[in-house]
Amino acid sequence: MKTTVIAVDGFASTGKSTLSKRLAKALDFTYMDTGYMYRAVSYFALTTDLIQGDVIQEQALEVALSETSFSWSTAAGPKQMLFNGKAYGDELRTLAISSWVSRIAQLGFVREHLVNQQRILSQLGSVVMDGRDIGTVVFPNADFKFFLIADPKVRAQRRFDELQAKGEEVLFEEILKNVVDRDHQDSTRAISPLRKAEEAVEIDTTLFSVEEVFEQMMSVVKA
Ligand code: CDP
Repeated sequence: MKTTVIAVDGFASTGKSTLSKRLAKALDFTYMDTGYMYRAVSYFALTTDLIQGDVIQEQALEVALSETSFSWSTAAGPKQMLFNGKAYGDELRTLAISSWVSRIAQLGFVREHLVNQQRILSQLGSVVMDGRDIGTVVFPNADFKFFLIADPKVRAQRRFDELQAKGEEVLFEEILKNVVDRDHQDSTRAISPLRKAEEAVEIDTTLFSVEEVFEQMMSVVKA
């Protein structure tokens, strides 16, 4: 059976996950949030003392990580990704995790482990995957590639609103700094840096609603 891969890459908080989820629902594809995987590994490192002070215990993390795995939930409804058998939610989207995740995502052994898992988990059918390196590294032959960008202040405001709605006390300036710092770290890292795949369709989401961007993406997929 021919399956389809839609890669959605881009900068932090450009709406990748919201739009990828919408696309997956409309097309009846599986949605795979690869940022969730890097965030889950960061959470794991923070909660098992593999980050001490400002230092990541890389060797110990590499050993511990080799015994972990991601899988799909088997419950009815949209598939949920599990890390070591457990589903994670808001605890992965806090500013504390966002402050560590780009450092964790720079580590070669982390990327190798997660890219392997992403390729395995995508074998079950057509997928919409969002991340930073999907169209360039994970699936360079993806059927459709999108690259989302937006003004940093607008992105920070969206993330600020999201965290406030969940009751997390954060300052707008902190969020803006995190968004800008992550973009920088993600784009300048040595392994699989964030960049637009040549053939990706770039969409600036600054001035468009979710609905408008969704329509633009659907028209590319349907064409
Ligand atoms: O939702 P948001 O745009 O804030 O970020 P995310 O997609 O949850 O990704 C969090 C972080 O994971 C990014 O800033 C990257 O450092 C890393 N990441 C990556 O390196 N490669 C991916 N394919 C996905 C995420």
